[in-house]
Amino acid sequence: MNSLLFLGRQPNLGIAELESVYGAEHLTFIWDKFVISDLPNNSFDLMRLGSVLKITEIIEEISLAKIKDLDFTITKIVSKHIKDNDISSKFNLGISSHNSGMDKNELTKLALTVKKNLKKEAFSIRIIPNKYEIISTAQVIHNDLTNAMKGLEIVLVRKKDLLLIVKTAQEQNIEAYAARDQARPYRDAYVGMLPPKLAQTIINFAVGKKDLKSIEILDPFCGTGVLLQEALLMGCPVVTGTDLEERMIEYSRGNIDWLEKKYNASKQSIIIEQDDATSAAWSEFNCVASETYLGKPLSTIPRKDFLRELIEPVNLLHKKFLKNIYTQLASGARICLAVPAWKTDNNQFIHLPVLDQLAELGYNRIALEKVSSKDLLYFRPDQIVARELVILTRK
Ligand SMILES: C[S@@+](CC[C@H](N)C(=O)[O-])C[C@H]1O[C@@H](n2cnc3c(N)ncnc32)[C@H](O)[C@@H]1O
Repeated sequence: MNSLLFLGRQPNLGIAELESVYGAEHLTFIWDKFVISDLPNNSFDLMRLGSVLKITEIIEEISLAKIKDLDFTITKIVSKHIKDNDISSKFNLGISSHNSGMDKNELTKLALTVKKNLKKEAFSIRIIPNKYEIISTAQVIHNDLTNAMKGLEIVLVRKKDLLLIVKTAQEQNIEAYAARDQARPYRDAYVGMLPPKLAQTIINFAVGKKDLKSIEILDPFCGTGVLLQEALLMGCPVVTGTDLEERMIEYSRGNIDWLEKKYNASKQSIIIEQDDATSAAWSEFNCVASETYLGKPLSTIPRKDFLRELIEPVNLLHKKFLKNIYTQLASGARICLAVPAWKTDNNQFIHLPVLDQLAELGYNRIALEKVSSKDLLYFRPDQIVARELVILTRK
């Protein structure tokens, strides 16, 4: 059964993440913020995908002309689900819509009609009322709509002249991300706040299709340790973090201690030490994933000469780091670095100059099939310094 995947705010990152982990050949149709895959929904592990919001199973594809029969179609789908799963207790049902043309009141009305139809079959349904056209992630999770035995979310998704009817199988748990992000004992607004979701995406770009259990990950600019935390939670058995600043090492160690206690994640080998990424010699790693030094934070677009001065030392640091680590990487080893890119007046981005010298330095930049590598930029609309996600292999 085909799957429909819902992507996050920056769809390119989600497409690239899915391509890296599952292969471009399984992404059969892409539009707007959606991807159709020929893999069944249980092939995907949403817990490790930072840039994908929802994983669903495609049940039916109908023409828009048949929208008037939706109550009949959805009744049939829910009835089959309840019978297949042998459910006898009260069952929750929510209906969401992405561009189906139905508003929240029409959706709630549709759900109530389905409830009435199912009552005739002696099924007891509790409807999740639509506050909006899309039932929120929190509502989906709190009402057990991804627990096949307790509830179901049906989502209507417009795909050109068709309407896809899908069942939600996995939903991104925003509260779990927020809990491990905001409850960490050591945070530093100046060093930056790498969102845990983005850390997962960086790790997935670096790991690719390899089994996470074979990955020994290194973050040479570990800061407060967000990437190390996510690598541990994703199941990497060996995790190493280094940073130039002693204070960051204390922060990373404190955060990892907290994580180990809170999430019972202590079976892995963890090394956190102070070191300079331009000269360090690391042991025990076969993969590098890092948010590097992004330079001075900026709140307004700087003058050209100021920006040139600001970029120069940051660029040099990256060049020295890439030279240093080259000698310690096996041929073919994969790296993902989130490096800075600076927004200019015309909403373009200035890239780190060393990215034009990668071949000379002994690296190949991986060209993805479904997304141009230049489009792997993470930024919020108000941010001047974006993170450019660069995926490399050592020649
Ligand atoms: C953007 S922060 C990384 C934040 C990190 N992802 C986190 O979870 O907090 C960049 C880090 O690079 C470190 N750094 C700067 N120059 C360095 C160098 N030469 N070697 C190692 N670390 C360096 C800084 O101390 C800072 O902690």
